[in-house]
Amino acid sequence: MRRILITGGCGFIGSNFVRHELATYPELSIVNVDKLTYAGNPENLKDLPEKSRYEFLQGDICDREFIASLLTSSKIDAVINFAAESHVDRSILDSGPFIQTNVVGTQTLLDCCRLHHIPRYVQVSTDEVYGSLGATGRFTEETPLAANSPYSASKAAADLLVRAYCHTFAFPAVITRCSNNYGPYQFPEKVIPLFISNALRDLPLPVYGTGSNVRDWIHVLDHCRGIDAAMRAGRVGEVYNFGGDCELTNLELTHALLDALDKPRTLIQFVSDRLGHDLRYAVDSSKSRRELGWLPQANFRDGLRQTIDWYLANTEWINRIRSGDYRKYYEQQYGNR
Ligand code: NAD
Ligand code: TYD
Repeated sequence: MRRILITGGCGFIGSNFVRHELATYPELSIVNVDKLTYAGNPENLKDLPEKSRYEFLQGDICDREFIASLLTSSKIDAVINFAAESHVDRSILDSGPFIQTNVVGTQTLLDCCRLHHIPRYVQVSTDEVYGSLGATGRFTEETPLAANSPYSASKAAADLLVRAYCHTFAFPAVITRCSNNYGPYQFPEKVIPLFISNALRDLPLPVYGTGSNVRDWIHVLDHCRGIDAAMRAGRVGEVYNFGGDCELTNLELTHALLDALDKPRTLIQFVSDRLGHDLRYAVDSSKSRRELGWLPQANFRDGLRQTIDWYLANTEWINRIRSGDYRKYYEQQYGNR
């Protein structure tokens, strides 16, 4: 791989991926196409040491002409699609942008990559396409798709398009499905950065329902290593799951955050449950371990401590987000707290 194109690289996982790839592969250069929605923040990559190997272009993955001209103008060895509307609560408020970017955007990328004979395509998907688990069991790549939220339905639709292009056109794609990520640069609408930044302001932490829903937490760099392994060694047409083997109820997670921040549990406020809230996610990554040699490296306790320290050291990053357009969404979702 000499030159790859990634989409959505100004978001949480994409920006971590850019850093990881440039630091790991000295010969690699990256083109990043990002629309810069509310979640896209060029600040996330402003202090890249390897600037000469990195190019940013503002653009929409639904813009066929733009993507096609980009693929014509330079030789691209792989395309990795991170670009998405990614927040479940927003998809409940309005699913329109989710269908547009996650479904139509993916279709547009697939068409352009196919016509330009791009040798490798990676669709970054989520374990949420499998729906919800009961108290036992884990998602494997064979688990039927049973998406429950408009977000996960749009991601599942995209996955099916990728599958169909592999089947119909022998299109050289792989799909990755990962559990909940944590780490630096995550937009503070997601539970971990939201709760850290609320706790630092002594604002309530809004726990949905009883806090008994379970998520499987993985460090974002372990996810990035998995995507890289799938891009380089994944078999065409295959799906690869990545999970952190770290299941926590939301209440356990909230306690861990408050303890690490030395804040009282009285900040916890139980609020109305999310509509259609998936009970439990847990991922079986044995296929990725076996076929890609992938292993999660982060230990949750250390990873969470480092993540909290990053947010403590970057309060200006969060302050700027919280005082911008995000305020409107926050007030709609949580009231004027
Ligand atoms: P994010 O919301 O932080 O970032 C999304 C990025 O995509 C932003 O930079 C945004 O500007 C860009 N974008 C949105 N619409 C676009 C469009 N039409 N054209 C170009 N760029 C556009 O999301 P994230 O958490 O970094 O997630 C990245 C990918 O990983 C998503 O596909 C998501 O479904 C998947 N995923 C996320 C998690 C998680 O825990 N965050 C877990 C599994 C999979
Ligand atoms: P989130 O970070 O939105 O990720 P996802 O919905 O994709 O799993 O939420 C993680 C869990 O935290 C989920 O069970 C919902 C819960 N949650 C809250 O209890 N309160 C909140 O304010 C948010 C944003 C999430």
